[in-house]
Amino acid sequence: MIKKFCISFAVLGLAFFLLLTALAVETRPGNSAEGEKLFLMFCSACHGSSGKGVGEATKFLETKPRDFTDQNYMVAKSDQELYDFIISDKPFHGTKFLPQLELHLEPQQSWDIVAYLRALHQKPKGNPIEGRKLFLIYCSTCHGKSGKGDGKGTQFLNTKPKDQTDNKYMSTLTDEALYSVISGGGTYTHKSKFMPKWSITLKPQNIWDLIAHIRNLHRKPEVKGDATRGKNIYSKYCWNCHGKSGMGNGPIAKALTPRPQNFTNAPQMQEKTDLELYYAILGGGGATGSSKFMPPLGKVLSEQELWDLVVYIRSLKK
Ligand code: HEC
Ligand code: HEC
Ligand code: HEC
Repeated sequence: MIKKFCISFAVLGLAFFLLLTALAVETRPGNSAEGEKLFLMFCSACHGSSGKGVGEATKFLETKPRDFTDQNYMVAKSDQELYDFIISDKPFHGTKFLPQLELHLEPQQSWDIVAYLRALHQKPKGNPIEGRKLFLIYCSTCHGKSGKGDGKGTQFLNTKPKDQTDNKYMSTLTDEALYSVISGGGTYTHKSKFMPKWSITLKPQNIWDLIAHIRNLHRKPEVKGDATRGKNIYSKYCWNCHGKSGMGNGPIAKALTPRPQNFTNAPQMQEKTDLELYYAILGGGGATGSSKFMPPLGKVLSEQELWDLVVYIRSLKK
């Protein structure tokens, strides 16, 4: 009886031990900013600087590398599989080929590369409302409230931030490139060292939120607003507070401090960009730091309806 108990105890212990070691040799967390550096230096000749598999040297290869930004293909690979491939004896990889480049990758470095390969295809959806909040807190001192690069902090900088509302320039930068600059800072990306490194302060999701907002600063909305449709929506949902003619004097307005925005006040409305009006309706006063009585309507109105309202509100100014 006691013997049986001891055996089962030992088996249980062994199973537990195996489970622990299995967990321990599971993947190690890598640093994707470091991984990007290594990737650019040692892998981009074939895999391309964007990881799409179209590097210069592929001309000479019979087997072409795969597209690391292809989410469908890459999610099927585990971190361990990617790691094993990098250190394997496959042609051009691991110990067989890379020693000729006098490259020795430490295990941690290979995990850093794995983390970067993940960043190439796992692009979490950013929330621009959250991004806008963060932008005003951390970035606008230099980049300016509207992203034009005219923040107060720039008077001390010899390299000024570029205009992030400039669609032509910003479209040349991929989301990944923006991610690298924000996460790693200017020094790491060979830009001005005054662009801080944010990976210490901000989580990856925060950075994707910021990118979603920055994209809104320069990209035209995908839909074009229509004032007539906007008027219809307005006369259902907004007039009670903002007033029939948009003067901020609807029946509920009396009860509210501050009063709802008067859309006919031309000088006041001129100070606001379309994007700010859009955010105000999308996220409500809570998101834009104005009155909490302005409800967040992004969940109940479509993208099209939001822009219809922006165009209609603009048409109200006297
Ligand atoms: C000389 C060209 C070359 C270089 C340099 C190179 N690779 Fe590759 N790599 C390839 C090719 C070609 C394949 C496709 C092999 C195949 O499908 O059989 C590949 C496949 C891979 C795969 C497997 C992807 C899959 O489809 O499963 C990984 C991971 C990988 N490379 C990572 C790296 C990393 C990391 C580096 C740099 C440290 C690197 N490679 C350097 C050419 C290269
Ligand atoms: C202390 C000033 C300062 C702050 C704060 C700052 N930046 Fe920058 N940023 C710069 C400068 C200067 C550059 C230009 C670097 C260059 O072109 O050499 C820059 C460049 C950039 C770029 C690259 C765009 C390009 O032209 O290639 C991005 C993206 C960016 N910043 C995002 C951010 C975000 C997001 C924040 C807030 C989380 C932020 N920055 C905060 C100064 C700042
Ligand atoms: C319950 C009352 C209420 C309703 C309903 C309401 N709003 Fe507002 N709205 C407010 C208040 C209060 C403010 C904040 C004014 C301030 O802080 O200066 C505001 C602010 C705004 C602003 C921001 C202006 C700025 O300061 O940047 C916009 C745009 C706006 N509302 C549009 C709308 C639209 C469009 C609708 C209908 C879909 C709507 N509102 C419905 C009360 C309301």
